Amino acid sequence: MSWWSFLERGSANLAPSILGGDLSRLAEELRDVEAAGADLHHLDVMDGHFVPNLSFGPEVCAAIAKAATLPLDCHLMIENPDAVLEEYREAGCHGLTVHREALADPLPVLKRIRSLGARAGLALNPATPLPPPGPIWEQLDLLLIMSVQPGYCGQDFQPAVLPKLAAAKSLREEGGLDFALSVDGGVTGARAPELRRAGADILVAASAIFGAGDRKAAVSSFRQALGGD
Ligand code: DX5
Ligand code: ZN
Repeated sequence: MSWWSFLERGSANLAPSILGGDLSRLAEELRDVEAAGADLHHLDVMDGHFVPNLSFGPEVCAAIAKAATLPLDCHLMIENPDAVLEEYREAGCHGLTVHREALADPLPVLKRIRSLGARAGLALNPATPLPPPGPIWEQLDLLLIMSVQPGYCGQDFQPAVLPKLAAAKSLREEGGLDFALSVDGGVTGARAPELRRAGADILVAASAIFGAGDRKAAVSSFRQALGGD
């Protein structure tokens, strides 16, 4: 499946976050969730500054790109992302998502991501409001609504972000815009239907997929919860 074909399908997409997997068996874990029916991979890049945790950088993303056959959406939880966009793009990431809180002005950064031939994503922490009406919305390929404070897998979903998701969906419809809505943090199969109803096109999950012994069963439980969507 090619990146963005889900928008044509209008269906729900599942993006396992490999950070929740067994990193000593990286290629195997990627293949497992691909065989189980994942739609894209979510790569959680953490720098130990923007978030307290440190995960992996462009070399590991390049290794993931070698092993994966699905598109890679790279969630950059880093300070000053503008300085390293090329590196992650060259590593093979198809989507680059930067944090609103890490940027004085996201607009030029989103434009640069597109100029690198990648999909431009903007992530919002739970307490960060939607951007005001304006040119940012035209530059968005993906809006990532964080449903936990970024930094760690395995946290509880914060339902307070649901109205923000729904508001982003309405803005997209009213503005005739064309970005995907993604939700990340504490996402489970049980939550999938309400997230889909609220507007999510991409469900990111680490613990709910990699924490389950059987990846195929975990992915199927999401699909079942979504009723074949
Ligand atoms: C949080 C990351 C998430 C996280 C998801 O900082 O951006 O992608 O790893 O983990 P779960 O699904 O366990 O909440
Ligand atoms: Zn993430």
